[in-house]
Amino acid sequence: AVTRTFSIIKPDATRRNITGAVTKMLEEAGLRVVASKRIHMSREQAEGFYAVHKERPFFGELVDFMISGPVVVQVLEGEEAMQRNRDIMGATNPKDAAAGTIRGELAESIEANTVHGSDSDENAAIEIAYFFKPEEIVG
Ligand code: CMP
Repeated sequence: AVTRTFSIIKPDATRRNITGAVTKMLEEAGLRVVASKRIHMSREQAEGFYAVHKERPFFGELVDFMISGPVVVQVLEGEEAMQRNRDIMGATNPKDAAAGTIRGELAESIEANTVHGSDSDENAAIEIAYFFKPEEIVG
């Protein structure tokens, strides 16, 4: 089925001016960008987005990193979009990410790992609604 998922191109990618390269890999994987905006998250916005991780030891650094520069938030659409996006992203840690994946090719570290992608269809819906109004998504 054609579904939607949520993606963030992280500050390490905006800093290196590779948002186009990342988007090209998403598109070549069969995903369509149906909403996109460049934003600089507030601390409150980043803490709310990553609330599920707030007890993790890396939470503070994760939030600091995600507000260290602009990001590009996107809604991606395609056949089984959530899984398709996870496949093209590669493993969270670039040391474990396969060649040809976004993180395998472009990520700098487990923190500066270039992209975030939703890990379930349920979370995709929550994450899309966190950043986008329905009318901002144009399929
Ligand atoms: P993301 O998909 O954005 O969700 C949580 C993020 O925490 C994850 O990608 C990583 O970039 C980041 N992170 C930083 N340190 C760690 C760690 N030790 N283990 C897992 N995730 C980490």
